[in-house]
Amino acid sequence: MSKTKAKISGVGSYLPQRILTNAELSKMVDTTDEWIRERVGISERHIATEHETNAFMATEAAKMALEDAKVAAREIDLIIVATSTPDQLMPGVATQVQAALGASCAAFDLNAACGGFVYGLHIAKQFFDTGSARNILLIGSERMSRVMDWQDRSTCVLFGDGAGAIVLSQSETPQFLASQIFADGAQRELLYTTPQFSDEPFSGVCCPSVVKMQGNRVFRWAVEKLEEVVEVILEDAGLKQDQIDWLVPHQANARIIAATAKKLNLPMEKVMLTLVKHGNTTAATIPLALAEGVQSKKIKRGDVLLFEAFGAGFVWGASIIKF
Ligand code: ACO
Repeated sequence: MSKTKAKISGVGSYLPQRILTNAELSKMVDTTDEWIRERVGISERHIATEHETNAFMATEAAKMALEDAKVAAREIDLIIVATSTPDQLMPGVATQVQAALGASCAAFDLNAACGGFVYGLHIAKQFFDTGSARNILLIGSERMSRVMDWQDRSTCVLFGDGAGAIVLSQSETPQFLASQIFADGAQRELLYTTPQFSDEPFSGVCCPSVVKMQGNRVFRWAVEKLEEVVEVILEDAGLKQDQIDWLVPHQANARIIAATAKKLNLPMEKVMLTLVKHGNTTAATIPLALAEGVQSKKIKRGDVLLFEAFGAGFVWGASIIKF
């Protein structure tokens, strides 16, 4: 695949004020702070309150990214919101963000679960390759707290809410070095949300939709596919392991991330790890981790970043971008 003249020109993030700690969770379900930290790597997560809708969080993250990029809303050619927890089925979150920003470009939602952000990067890349866009706003925004069964300890301790955004802009030299996306829909029963609507004609709404997961089986798939995908993406970019400055992974489990870092021969100091404070925010984990890295000045201009994700579907993928 060809390298693309596009760069990340701005980053932004939004995290709800309300923090839910492991100690609080251990009063709600049969769990302990120790189990969650050791088996998953999470200490706390943010939970959206009533006014912090998906569109609100996405818009706040987008405003910050646009300001960082010094790009005006009218200069955006496309808005993609990667989400699997939109406020309602229609209209999408992306059009609400477009209106809130005062932009006039095309806008759509993309549902590829935890893979949403890497899928979004891959789609955005095609627009730059074909010269169809100068600036694209790509947001990952999730309100996972709305699809939790708060009595199911095997899932409710894992997820959190938040939004991260980036502005991708045309660049002088190719900085978007590689992108690959994959799927295996045969594994759908290992991770899904229960149906919100009844299949019976004329019956309408069924019940609240909640996440169901066979965690240990998802874990094994995630480790295997992410190990494969980092090899594929390095080859695609024509880079060696030691040319990667930062791994900016999807944040589902610290042990999955450590396995990928090991495969890349990267020390954990070169991994943006935000899971401990954010939990798994599905399509928002990567842009939130990127924003944290940039805002804390760990990630610097010129650094080569490897993004990877694995999620429900299954879907997985990776991208390499020179920051
Ligand atoms: N507190 C205490 N004990 C628990 C908890 C909890 N919160 N949850 C499960 N357990 C128990 C189980 O009941 C089980 O007990 P048993 O041995 O008596 O039956 C024991 O812990 C082990 O359960 P496992 O599911 O085998 O635990 P595992 O070590 O696999 O950790 C986890 C579970 C954290 C979910 C892990 O499997 C994981 O991270 N999976 C991958 C998640 C992922 O990558 N998701 C993809 C992205 S999400 C998306 O796309 C929306």
